[in-house]
Amino acid sequence: MKKIQISPSILSADFSQLGNDIKRLENAGADMIHVDVMDGHFVPNLTIGPPVIKTLRKCSKLIFDVHLMISPVHKYIKDFADAGADIITIHPEATENLKESINHIKSLGKKVGVSLNPDTKVSIIEKELEKIDLVLVMSVHPGFGGQKFIPDVIKKIEILKKIKDEKSYRYDIEVDGGINFSNSKNVINAGANILVSGTTIFKENEGNIKKNIETLKEV
Ligand code: DX5
Ligand code: ZN
Repeated sequence: MKKIQISPSILSADFSQLGNDIKRLENAGADMIHVDVMDGHFVPNLTIGPPVIKTLRKCSKLIFDVHLMISPVHKYIKDFADAGADIITIHPEATENLKESINHIKSLGKKVGVSLNPDTKVSIIEKELEKIDLVLVMSVHPGFGGQKFIPDVIKKIEILKKIKDEKSYRYDIEVDGGINFSNSKNVINAGANILVSGTTIFKENEGNIKKNIETLKEV
């Protein structure tokens, strides 16, 4: 079984001191940093873009797991690659040609992720699964932190794990949204190996990030 990794979402960090919060996450044992990019068009919220990521890149050596909730996404991929993203995850609904966007991310030497919203079926990306590094299963409707986990996505995680095992594909299964201490074990047992969390990591146990990361990893 793959090692469980935690990718804290900086959407729940203190935006007045993002660099320090990223350093706190690294010192507390985060495996990577989940950067939620929102454009106010694909999702009804606006966050940060390449210039901010470029400055944050200097703050940590950790993998930047960049989740692009933007549309159209294809023409911006290189900007995020140049800014220092290590994993670039896109939504299939945000590109006219998913295969082309996947190849573009790979051509830039970056790992490629594809994200499935709660209502998006695995079947729409099944043909691409062999080529990608990560499937990001959304367990909330994207746009905001602090939302409630949607339990129906457990089935989707199980389907992805079954395909991965049967076809010996290599993609990581990452789950994003509403992850907390009462659902993390179910998500891991269903087949996820990377958990994204913002609210739980920054807010639980009086903000003891190290304890929260360790607790989420427990199986
Ligand atoms: C939502 C983002 C998630 C979210 C997770 O659109 O993609 O990464 O910030 O935050 P919590 O853990 O608070 O649900
Ligand atoms: Zn995210």
